[in-house]
Amino acid sequence: MYLVFPTHAELARYTSQKLKTLMLSAVPTTVGLATGSTMEPVYANLIQSLQSAGSQDFKQLVSFNLDEYVGLNRQHPQSYRYYMQQHLFDHIGLPDEQTFLPDGSCTDIDEQCAWYSQAIQQRGGLDFQLLGIGTNGHIGFNEPGTPFDSRTHVVELSEQTRIDNGRFFDDFAEVPTHAITLGIADIMEAKEVWLLITGEHKAQTVLNYHRSAVDENMPASVLKRHPNTHILLDQAAASLLPAEVQTHYRTQAA
Ligand code: F6R
Repeated sequence: MYLVFPTHAELARYTSQKLKTLMLSAVPTTVGLATGSTMEPVYANLIQSLQSAGSQDFKQLVSFNLDEYVGLNRQHPQSYRYYMQQHLFDHIGLPDEQTFLPDGSCTDIDEQCAWYSQAIQQRGGLDFQLLGIGTNGHIGFNEPGTPFDSRTHVVELSEQTRIDNGRFFDDFAEVPTHAITLGIADIMEAKEVWLLITGEHKAQTVLNYHRSAVDENMPASVLKRHPNTHILLDQAAASLLPAEVQTHYRTQAA
């Protein structure tokens, strides 16, 4: 089933409440976070909601982001570390020791990749994973064709992904060619997964996902095997889906 919200803003508000609960948990909680346009209003709502609730204690929280560009350090405005600081961490005072992203400027990438998956496992795995989707069906930066048993690894970004993400860079030539991403096996071990999809430009991707068998050429299709995955869409992204598979958030809440 697909949970459909009238707007991206309403979907973002709903998701931010889920994240807020996880982040303020009284027991150790490990949350997988994502970047990208889909998540911007989610984090904006989360900041607002946390700030209006007064001072907060995130002592039990550790976060691991999905991915980072190879070659960009944390000061680079297009690095995902920079994004997370700007869109969430700096606003809520979450210390560096509790937030992890792959380091795109490290000297030993293989060691870094192995360490990243292990660090998550040492925490007992991800309690929750937030995901967006690329127009080609990627999750994290697991591009079509990525083996489902992959762990954190370096990926060569597809032309489509570089074009899609080129909007954030002044010049297409500056768009990195490689990234480090959490693997599909790591994502599938999360206890709960929320996949957020918004915008008319993702409607065809949603339909492709819906029609797809579980197939490495549509990376997100692996989630059909996950026992606790929730797919949240705005109306624009859901516009090509058959009506009978859509659950409308307002109807459900009434
Ligand atoms: C980001 C990530 C990517 C994005 C996806 C959608 O950390 O892992 O899979 O979620 O590319 O990006 P937006 O939201 O910009 O359309």
